[in-house]
Amino acid sequence: MRIIDSESDIGLIAASYVKLRINQAGGKLVLGLPTGGTMESFYAHLVEFYAKGEVSFREVVTFNLDEYIGLERGSAESYRSYMNSRLFDLVDIEPSNIHFPDVYAADLEKAASEYDKKIESFGGIDIFLGGVGRNGHIAFNEAGTPFDAPTHKVKLEESTRKANSRFFGGNINAVPEYAFTMGMGTILKSKEIIILASGETKSEALYRAVEGNISTQWPVSALRLHNNSYILADPKALSQVSSASMAKFRACSLGSCGSKAD
Ligand code: GLP
Repeated sequence: MRIIDSESDIGLIAASYVKLRINQAGGKLVLGLPTGGTMESFYAHLVEFYAKGEVSFREVVTFNLDEYIGLERGSAESYRSYMNSRLFDLVDIEPSNIHFPDVYAADLEKAASEYDKKIESFGGIDIFLGGVGRNGHIAFNEAGTPFDAPTHKVKLEESTRKANSRFFGGNINAVPEYAFTMGMGTILKSKEIIILASGETKSEALYRAVEGNISTQWPVSALRLHNNSYILADPKALSQVSSASMAKFRACSLGSCGSKAD
């Protein structure tokens, strides 16, 4: 695991890196894509790069990390709508290359295992991008999820529903109780993992990720089990991480240069 700390826009840093990697790969890259407030700037910059002709998504394949169960198809609060309005409707991606866990399937268990098989059929995820919940969840893997869990249905923690109620008019009761999430096992199989975090509310999660025990109680701590994982965060989110750990894990940029922790 490596840490990149930056005072400047972490969404721009991540978007510039993804653009570079898509272009280096000749346009073909498999991405794991998240939602959430932290990622808004990332998508805005990707769309800007596309508009300037600096990158094409024609052959990019995407797998979203998670989706609520129980919302009506096309609901504004669904992660599908979030992605359509911030990226998919604004770039040249092929609709058939966009993947979401099928939360409308009659057999949810089967749909979950098919999602993992689909990811494998594309050779796995090249770059997994994610945010982190205040309680350390990644995608919707809540505390206690085994690190080898496949894609599965989860019951959301009260604290997660409360944090996400801001997207539901502040009404926690409107936030679905269940969701589909890529499992920690699926995520850890990705070739590269980049977790973005900004602001004070994420500082305990990052403290646990870097300094705490590697434990399913803090899913984000699993990053330390992966040999090509990054935390890309601002100083507020990293405020609880000790300077000794920063010296150990700090890297100068995504992909290109290592750190003493390699
Ligand atoms: C939701 C998503 C996560 C995301 C988290 C943090 O719970 N399921 O994938 O990481 O929110 O979102 P935000 O960036 O809005 O804090």
